[in-house]
Amino acid sequence: MSDILVTEQIAGREMDALQSAFNVVYEPELWKAPDRIKQILPEFCAIIVRNQTPVNADLIGAGRKLEVIGRAGVGLDNVDAKTASDAGIVVVYAPEQNSISVAELALGLMLSLAREIPAADRSTKGGAWDRKRFTGIELFGKTLGVVGLGRIGFLTAMRARAFGMNIIAHDTFVNPDSFMVNEPRAKLVSLEELYRESDFISSHVPETPQTINMFNDAAFAQMKRSAYFINTSRGKVVDEDALIRALRDKRIAGAALDVRAKEPPGGSPLNEMDNVILLPHIAAFTHEGQGRVVTSVCKDIAAVLKGEAAKNFFNFPRPKR
Ligand code: MLT
Repeated sequence: MSDILVTEQIAGREMDALQSAFNVVYEPELWKAPDRIKQILPEFCAIIVRNQTPVNADLIGAGRKLEVIGRAGVGLDNVDAKTASDAGIVVVYAPEQNSISVAELALGLMLSLAREIPAADRSTKGGAWDRKRFTGIELFGKTLGVVGLGRIGFLTAMRARAFGMNIIAHDTFVNPDSFMVNEPRAKLVSLEELYRESDFISSHVPETPQTINMFNDAAFAQMKRSAYFINTSRGKVVDEDALIRALRDKRIAGAALDVRAKEPPGGSPLNEMDNVILLPHIAAFTHEGQGRVVTSVCKDIAAVLKGEAAKNFFNFPRPKR
């Protein structure tokens, strides 16, 4: 009998411990074959995924013995937590374990855009020694607009503050009197003001029906021509065609994307643009961040399967079917 199905890359000491204690089927490439997952899922009590496996109502329906779904990360856009709750299935995830890694990458991307580090590297390795061409800008004194002042937005703002940036933020949920706002001395503003005033705009919103394509033609049209846009949150919050138009028409100065509407994205005009930095969704991928994520999710999966309480659970499942 099988206990746990793992359909994406999950490694670490706690994963080894899970494999010794339970019967684990580890197939890190299985996310590419959703039909096969559906076919074998009825045997399993638990499934562990990252962001590539769509754990939708159809799949959950197939998981007749499923007790727990583990999402090794923070974003739950690929897990239908409502259907899981209705079916009495616990969803565990890692709400803050990789936040520092993501915030550090957001800062790295800001610096990379401000100083054109990837282009300067390519140019120098190509034999050039072009100092004048790579005259950049400082972060010091610039305004960072944080869209979504949750954990990652807050940690990004704190780091930007250390660089001497002014912080403005838009978040409809944050308590204006909380440390999340006060510690980075963030001024809460409307989205319109944020677009108008920011030199760097960093997205930290989750993917929801309200945020999908929120960075669209209308949004880019309101930004400064000198503004840089950074997205380490979710790809679908950006209308990529609108971003391409904004970059081509020099409506904004540049962009850095760690996440894409479709992953992997395939060919795109963005690939040819010098003022764009593209990464393969690696913001959370540090040894430290992944260590914490895998430890947390594996421990919680083991706890639920042993009938104990999980630490980082997302939902309130109704009594089991
Ligand atoms: C997350 O949601 O934690 C990150 O985007 C990383 C991932 O999806 O694996």
